[in-house]
Amino acid sequence: MAKCLTLLLYTGLVWCCFNNTPAYCLANETDRLALISFKVSIDKDPFGALSSWNDSLHYCDWKGVMCSRRHQDRVIKLDLRSQGLVGSLSPHIGNLSFLRSIVFENNSFHDPIPQEIGRLFRLRRLYLNNNSFGGQIPKNLSSCSNLKELNLIDNHLTGNIPGELGYLAKLQALGLGQNNFSGTIPPSLGNLSSLSIISLSYCNLHREIPVEISRLQGLTYVHLTNNNLSGKIPSGLFNISTIYVLTVAYNKLHGRISSDTGSSTFALTNLQYFSLTTNRFTGMIPASLSNASRLETVNFLGNSFTGPMPKDLGKLSHLQYFSFGVNRLQDDFSFISSLTNCTSLQYIQLGRNLLRGSLPDSIANLSTKMRWLSMADNQVQGSIPSGIGNLINLTALYMGYNQLSGPIPETIGKLHKMQELYFEGNSLTELPSSLGNLSLLNRLHVEQNNIYGSIPSSIGNLHNLLELNIAYNNLSGSIPPEIMSLSSISISLNLAHNGLTGALPSEVGSLKNVAELDLSNNKLSGPIPNSLQSCLSLERLVLGGNSFDGEIPTTLRELRGLRELDFSQNNLSGSIPSYLGNLQLEKLNLSFNHLHGEVPMEGVFRNRSAISVVGNSDLCGVRGTIGYVAPEYGLGDRASTEGDMYSYGILLLEMFTGKRPTDNVFKDTMSLHSFVECALPNQVMEIVDPCIRSEHDPKTWFKDTLVSVLRIGAACSMDSPRDRMQIQVVANFSNDVVYVQSWMFGCCMVGGGLCRGPDIPSSIIEAGRSRLARPRLKPSKGYRFRDPSVDMAFRSPTADY
Ligand SMILES: *[C@@H]1O[C@H](CO)[C@@H](O)[C@H](O)[C@H]1NC(C)=O
Ligand SMILES: *[C@@H]1O[C@H](CO)[C@@H](O)[C@H](O)[C@H]1NC(C)=O
Ligand SMILES: *[C@@H]1O[C@H](CO)[C@@H](O)[C@H](O)[C@H]1NC(C)=O
Ligand SMILES: *[C@@H]1O[C@H](CO)[C@@H](O)[C@H](O)[C@H]1NC(C)=O
Ligand SMILES: *[C@@H]1O[C@H](CO)[C@@H](O)[C@H](O)[C@H]1NC(C)=O
Ligand SMILES: *[C@@H]1O[C@H](CO)[C@@H](O)[C@H](O)[C@H]1NC(C)=O
Ligand SMILES: *[C@@H]1O[C@H](CO)[C@@H](O)[C@H](O)[C@H]1NC(C)=O
Ligand SMILES: *[C@@H]1O[C@H](CO)[C@@H](O)[C@H](O)[C@H]1NC(C)=O
Ligand SMILES: *[C@@H]1O[C@H](CO)[C@@H](O)[C@H](O)[C@H]1NC(C)=O
Ligand SMILES: *[C@@H]1O[C@H](CO)[C@@H](O)[C@H](O)[C@H]1NC(C)=O
Ligand SMILES: *[C@@H]1O[C@H](CO)[C@@H](O)[C@H](O)[C@H]1NC(C)=O
Ligand SMILES: *[C@@H]1O[C@H](CO)[C@@H](O)[C@H](O)[C@H]1NC(C)=O
Repeated sequence: MAKCLTLLLYTGLVWCCFNNTPAYCLANETDRLALISFKVSIDKDPFGALSSWNDSLHYCDWKGVMCSRRHQDRVIKLDLRSQGLVGSLSPHIGNLSFLRSIVFENNSFHDPIPQEIGRLFRLRRLYLNNNSFGGQIPKNLSSCSNLKELNLIDNHLTGNIPGELGYLAKLQALGLGQNNFSGTIPPSLGNLSSLSIISLSYCNLHREIPVEISRLQGLTYVHLTNNNLSGKIPSGLFNISTIYVLTVAYNKLHGRISSDTGSSTFALTNLQYFSLTTNRFTGMIPASLSNASRLETVNFLGNSFTGPMPKDLGKLSHLQYFSFGVNRLQDDFSFISSLTNCTSLQYIQLGRNLLRGSLPDSIANLSTKMRWLSMADNQVQGSIPSGIGNLINLTALYMGYNQLSGPIPETIGKLHKMQELYFEGNSLTELPSSLGNLSLLNRLHVEQNNIYGSIPSSIGNLHNLLELNIAYNNLSGSIPPEIMSLSSISISLNLAHNGLTGALPSEVGSLKNVAELDLSNNKLSGPIPNSLQSCLSLERLVLGGNSFDGEIPTTLRELRGLRELDFSQNNLSGSIPSYLGNLQLEKLNLSFNHLHGEVPMEGVFRNRSAISVVGNSDLCGVRGTIGYVAPEYGLGDRASTEGDMYSYGILLLEMFTGKRPTDNVFKDTMSLHSFVECALPNQVMEIVDPCIRSEHDPKTWFKDTLVSVLRIGAACSMDSPRDRMQIQVVANFSNDVVYVQSWMFGCCMVGGGLCRGPDIPSSIIEAGRSRLARPRLKPSKGYRFRDPSVDMAFRSPTADY
């Protein structure tokens, strides 16, 4: 390379001196030679961007080069954006001393940025974003005292951000995001008094946002997401009214953003995009947030905000994204009415808060642009307003884990764009036949409700369905064959725990892509159809707790992917098929007293450590006491904290229900765990220890406490170790559980009259509310919230200097 360079420089000089073309000889050789050395250090030029960089043209006519005619053909601009260039940046670029603008964005430059760039004291714009520059930011960059825009976003830069950048007194835009820095945001950036745009996302910065930043009174765009920033946002930042984008999402920031009462005046009146999502903020949402009347996106998801929703939301006429989910907000739903003035609204995320009450009919007047609505995991009561059918652009609706009752309205069928419908964990009673109109539906979750009647066969029209869960309801009648023909279902078809009767339609063989088929605990009868052999993607086949008869089909040997097989509690006869030995099962549940033969242990459980054989405890010698031992210990798994959690959970359930896990009632289908889980939360008074039950009216606080404690017990005793509550979480309130227990039973002994609660540690209530303590068939969706892209500040440069 060095030789080559010398030769090039040499031939260039010779050529110049012996050729009589005056244009080349009068031109400043310095720039031409610097450009040639720039070209030499480029290894790949896939689009031939530099092929015009040859001696048949004056260098000022080379592609991407712009010269000043006034200053003897000095190069003032280099623009080689998006040329696929691979190579390093020659230090000789520092010789192009008239350069004002370098735009190399969207290439593949690697190696460090040369220090010599600091010699370009006329430089105003440096765009090296979206390359692969490594090493540290050269401190010498601070000598480019005329620099106005510095964009190094999306490279592989390391080390600290040099404090010397604070000398760039004219800097207006600073972009350093998407690099691999270490260290902190230098306080000297507070000296950049002209700074308007600061973008430092995804670059591994630690500790506090320096208070000096709030000296920058001209800030408009502040993008600090996805770092490891801690401490509080400097309060002065909330006084810089020119800011229109402020996002500190995905950090570890804490503190309040308003006074205790939420009454301080919110001064960021020009805000359009405001995201605090996934931090640790507390306190109230400023009531006057609605002063920011240009707001388009407000995302506070995943913090610990308390108190009511902000008021006067109707003033936010540009609002599109509105996300306050996963906080501790307490309010009724009257604020929905004010949102109806926001005619551009598309997303509402309120999931997992403490919002309570019925939905106002005005929900029907929300913008028809609405695409996404989540209120999951609150305390929404009453019926679903039929006006919801007006929101014809909705693609996703998450209402799971509330206290909704009554039928799902027929008007749901008007939501033709719907893809995800989640109503699980409520007290809903009827499925509308119009569901069949939602032809784009991917996921339908209505499990854990009180739905009665038969399954609408129109569900068979949903040819885009991936997942259907109607488990834990009161459905009766037979399974419509149309549903078993839905070959699109690939994730799960779950109709368990209903009162379904009749045969399993042989159409089940159409479910070629389904991974989970759970029809357990119904009243299905007849033979297990041979056509199941066509369900080649099956991993989990659960048919236990029905009245199937005949033999286990031999054709199931084709199902190589099976991990769990459950035929227990049926009327099956014949012998246990030997092919089970060739399947890679992790869990097998057969009821042997209808069946005979040996379970081929060696084959079935080859290479598996986490195994449980349910249904016959003699099969494998369990350690410890039967009933308290975690299922994974079944075949000699080593002791673990998850196993301890299981035992703890079972003990807790025993203490509060007065039932042992080995009680006769739990011999058949139920376990102590499922007994409790089925009763939560509404029937909890029916399953607690009779002593507690007889002495107390179920006052709300008392019932809530029991629900919480039992939820903790149930969460600790989940079948899968992965799903159990973690010991660190349990440790926080295990003492309080003991206290509650002794207090309740103390009351029980002396008579209920003496116990005038609530004297319940709040930790218990909190823990019982937490996600971890809510046993679920499947985790609810609807907490995700796309943080819309905000990297709008650094568009490719067009303005001229
Ligand atoms: C060429 O550029 C160099 C470096 O900037 C400068 O010192 C020299 O005076 C210029 N020569 C002419 C002829 O302008
Ligand atoms: C750039 O300038 C330095 C110092 O003035 C000089 O040594 C070097 O040869 C120059 N590079 C080219 C390619 O002319
Ligand atoms: C030099 O550049 C010109 C202009 O792009 C081109 O037409 C010519 O083929 C190039 N010559 C060589 C030797 O690459
Ligand atoms: C980046 O460069 C590629 C060619 O390498 C081009 O197709 C693409 O549009 C460019 N992207 C941007 C954002 O400029
Ligand atoms: C980055 O550049 C590559 C080409 O090198 C291009 O494909 C990609 O789209 C660019 N990314 C962005 C965010 O501009
Ligand atoms: C970097 O800056 C320092 C101090 O301004 C200077 O002494 C040194 O020569 C510069 N290095 C280069 C390679 O320009
Ligand atoms: C920044 O300004 C402070 C005074 O506000 C001064 O002490 C410090 O030296 C300055 N730092 C830089 C890097 O300019
Ligand atoms: C970032 O740097 C750390 C060490 O400083 C290194 O372990 C990690 O692999 C780097 N990541 C990338 C994406 O370069
Ligand atoms: C984040 O910062 C904290 C201190 O504020 C530190 O303990 C932790 O290791 C950092 N995390 C990462 C991933 O760098
Ligand atoms: C913010 O502005 C308010 C009202 O003008 C003022 O009272 C407060 O001191 C300012 N805070 C900071 C940190 O500048
Ligand atoms: C509704 O929005 C308009 C502006 O579009 C505004 O003038 C009016 O005050 C708002 N109404 C309410 C109740 O906020
Ligand atoms: C539905 O959404 C699309 C895309 O945002 C929009 O163009 C259309 O006007 C909306 N329909 C109604 C009735 O608002």
